[in-house]
Amino acid sequence: MEFMHLQPNISLKPFNTFGIDVPAEYFLELDNGNLLPEITALYQHKHILGGGSNILLTGPVKGLVIHNRLKGITKIKEDDTHVWLMVEAGELWHDLVLYAIDKGWGGIENLALIPGTAGAAPIQNIGAYGVEAREAIESVTYWHWDEKTTITYHNRECKFGYRDSIFKHGLKDKAFITSVLFKLTKQPKFNTSYGAIEQELEELGVTELSVKAIAHAVMNIRKSKLPDPAVIGNAGSFFKNPTITTIKFTELKLQFPTIPSYRVSDSLVKVPAGWLIEQCGWKGYRKNDTGVHEKQALVLVNYGSARGSEIWQLSDEIVLSVKERFGIELEREVQVW
Ligand code: FAD
Ligand code: EPU
Repeated sequence: MEFMHLQPNISLKPFNTFGIDVPAEYFLELDNGNLLPEITALYQHKHILGGGSNILLTGPVKGLVIHNRLKGITKIKEDDTHVWLMVEAGELWHDLVLYAIDKGWGGIENLALIPGTAGAAPIQNIGAYGVEAREAIESVTYWHWDEKTTITYHNRECKFGYRDSIFKHGLKDKAFITSVLFKLTKQPKFNTSYGAIEQELEELGVTELSVKAIAHAVMNIRKSKLPDPAVIGNAGSFFKNPTITTIKFTELKLQFPTIPSYRVSDSLVKVPAGWLIEQCGWKGYRKNDTGVHEKQALVLVNYGSARGSEIWQLSDEIVLSVKERFGIELEREVQVW
């Protein structure tokens, strides 16, 4: 096993964007998927780590942490209108976006600058600026720890939803996603439905739309809104935006006339959690090294040496206060280890 670089007692601080300092009992950099059958039998507790940008570490991690370093982007098919890319799970998501926009292939440009790996993209069906990864995912291939075999799920079998998929439910802790097949288009349909994109394109003086221009606009907006984990520890949105019934929303609107909403269906609306949290007075809150970002109340932050348990406790207090004021139960987006 020495060729696998197995290391005992390694600090995970450099490997999670919250910058939480806890040790992993064992740590492995995995750059060869053929080793998965051998690893399967080694440890009972196995944890897969991509970019560590959607996890909260609440204590020392028992067992084996596998850092996914499977690399490679291969064009496996092409026709007049589309191109199919097989992407190894350890490729950085943003590198894939840059690769696609460089070729002029459309479909994921609105998802520029999302941290983490391509293999984690299907897990919560990453989304931003009016687009979700599921729109470009053809299939997902994973190693099943219990079945000890490689399985490929077509898009519809992944049961994608808003920040959701089968990998967070039936396949939670059972699947190591090894590669994702993306279908990108050579004739991009530009999605500028998110108002801020139009405005940013105008400010950039863009007169002719392209995947590159949209990615550029999205990157500018993101940089102005979200804290850079290299500067302040965070994991992006800590909670999901809750979906409530239109009946419940109508009641709330009477009491809170300025409450924003987005239509989901005739009977459901989504409410921005950032607004709910801000209304409860949390925006810019700080206690020791934990806090709520001053520009984005949906982002919890670590100013330096916060412990995961302190961030968890803060998130509990936020859930409670939103529940008391609005009767809405916030659900955490980050995965808690
Ligand atoms: P990790 O944090 O390493 O892992 C997340 C979970 O997935 C863990 O439970 C892990 O065990 C599991 N996992 C990871 N890789 C695999 C694999 N190969 N097989 C099986 N399980 C695996 N998300 C959005 O959707 N939209 C955004 O706009 C967005 N913006 C963000 C901005 C910032 C500043 C930050 C820090 C985060 C943001 N996120 C956003 C969240 C995050 O980037 C995504 O959830 C991303 O997909 C996580 O990828 P990762 O490789 O870092 O996953
Ligand atoms: N808002 C406030 N106060 C705040 C923050 C937001 O009132 O402090 C309100 C405003 O009304 C604003 C609205 O919330 O118009 C929406 O805010 P924003 O555009 O910043 O988006 P978001 O709903 O907070 C979601 C995703 C992000 C994604 C952006 C852009 C979720 C949980 N979050 O954030 O994804 O980048 O939209 O599409 O859906 C992530 O998942 O980690 C993430 C960063």
